[in-house]
Amino acid sequence: LAVCGGGGVATLVAWSQAGLDTAGQVDFRNRLAVPPLAESRIDREGRRVFDLRAQEGRTDFGRDEATRTWGFDGDYLGPTLRAKRGERVLVNVVNGLDEPTSVHWHGMHLPARMDGGPHQEVRPGATWSPHWTVGQPAATLWYHPHPHGETAKHVLRGLAGMFILDDERSEGLALPREYGVDDIPVIVQDRQFDSRGRFREGSGTGDTILVNGIPGAYLDVRTERVRLRLLNASNSRMYTFGLSDDRPFTLIGSDGGLLPAPHSMTRIRLSPGERAEIVVGMEAGENVTLRSFPTNLHNILSDRFAGIRDMLDVLQLRAESNLARSPEVPAVLAPIEPLGPASAVTTRKFALSGRQINGERMDMGRIDEVVTRDTTEIWEITKEDGTLHNFHVHDVQFQVLSVGGVKPPVELSGWKDTILLPPNETVRIIARFADYADPDVPYMYHCHILSHEDAGMMGQFVVVEPGQKAGRPDTQGHHK
Ligand code: C2O
Ligand code: CU
Ligand code: CU
Repeated sequence: LAVCGGGGVATLVAWSQAGLDTAGQVDFRNRLAVPPLAESRIDREGRRVFDLRAQEGRTDFGRDEATRTWGFDGDYLGPTLRAKRGERVLVNVVNGLDEPTSVHWHGMHLPARMDGGPHQEVRPGATWSPHWTVGQPAATLWYHPHPHGETAKHVLRGLAGMFILDDERSEGLALPREYGVDDIPVIVQDRQFDSRGRFREGSGTGDTILVNGIPGAYLDVRTERVRLRLLNASNSRMYTFGLSDDRPFTLIGSDGGLLPAPHSMTRIRLSPGERAEIVVGMEAGENVTLRSFPTNLHNILSDRFAGIRDMLDVLQLRAESNLARSPEVPAVLAPIEPLGPASAVTTRKFALSGRQINGERMDMGRIDEVVTRDTTEIWEITKEDGTLHNFHVHDVQFQVLSVGGVKPPVELSGWKDTILLPPNETVRIIARFADYADPDVPYMYHCHILSHEDAGMMGQFVVVEPGQKAGRPDTQGHHK
């Protein structure tokens, strides 16, 4: 990954508005780097094969000294994997680090033993080669390590990347889709540096925003409309994205794919792990800044920790003096069949509090929930402490039935795999656990604030055949 075109230091200047905690107006001196598309080949069985190597590196973030980082096939972050619905994919994951790691395909529907969670640890020097058939709609997914108790450190050091899925429908829509030109991955992370340019690895938020690993990044926009694939890949920070002049943007997709129809809005809130695809309209020659605004979330005691009162510049969009024409965003995107609550065979409840779910900390050897294959379930999730949490479920994309008893807002009306838990309100989601069953290998559900996940705010579910009992999970991957 090429880093830092301009080579300058991104200076953080205290924001002038009173009442904001820290933060962030930035000199945009560095051209945005776009992660390369991962190369792939088709093997004799017709599978699309990728190679991905986790390794150590050094990255110039414009500090006095280069920062020790980790990356996939490079120094920081990793290439963008891309595959189409119906394709069979195989990824050779090589662990070039000197400690165990894993690679989880966040948002992907696939067999549990291919999922890359804590049970699929890859030892130093080893290769792990999961394979599956892409059986879900076009979406912006991502990948990151998930080693038990160590996820925060591995992601913070730089191990993360995007995984874009396409399908017939997405390829036929007149949306911006030229990768790196008018279709741009925007991987947003916050980092704190010490005086020697090293990452601070505590669990707090950072005051430097990196986009695709670049501080103070700007993007040269060459088209009338640009599609931004926003990914909150931060360990704990929330963002409420909007544009500096409050112009509306068009929301076209959420975690698991395109929405049925585009929606014009001025803010989109993303907690760690969530994605949103937006289209921004630009006039020739103008500059506008993608920024995170203070979030209006009441009653969160740890708001300083989550950074929700911060105003932070994220990415400057600089329109060239001549813009290529872009078609209007289509009025119909990808229809979504609602999952009816009447089709659910059970309702499970999850209460998050004090780094525990339902009063228990994550135990690699304990199966918390047993789900029957090809059934639909409602999950009711409540946050019972004063800390910010969200909730992520592996294997499925879910639909949100209600938040605090009312119909979800538009940004939660499509496919989701991660959702912010508002204070004192229950979130009801519905999902179909289709296709894959394995009594011995669990999937995870957890808070995606990585220090919470590492501290045990995670549980395990298996999907079994009708009438089958849960097996015994292998705890050998557990190295601590
Ligand atoms: Cu993105 Cu279980 O994680
Ligand atoms: Cu996941
Ligand atoms: Cu949490």
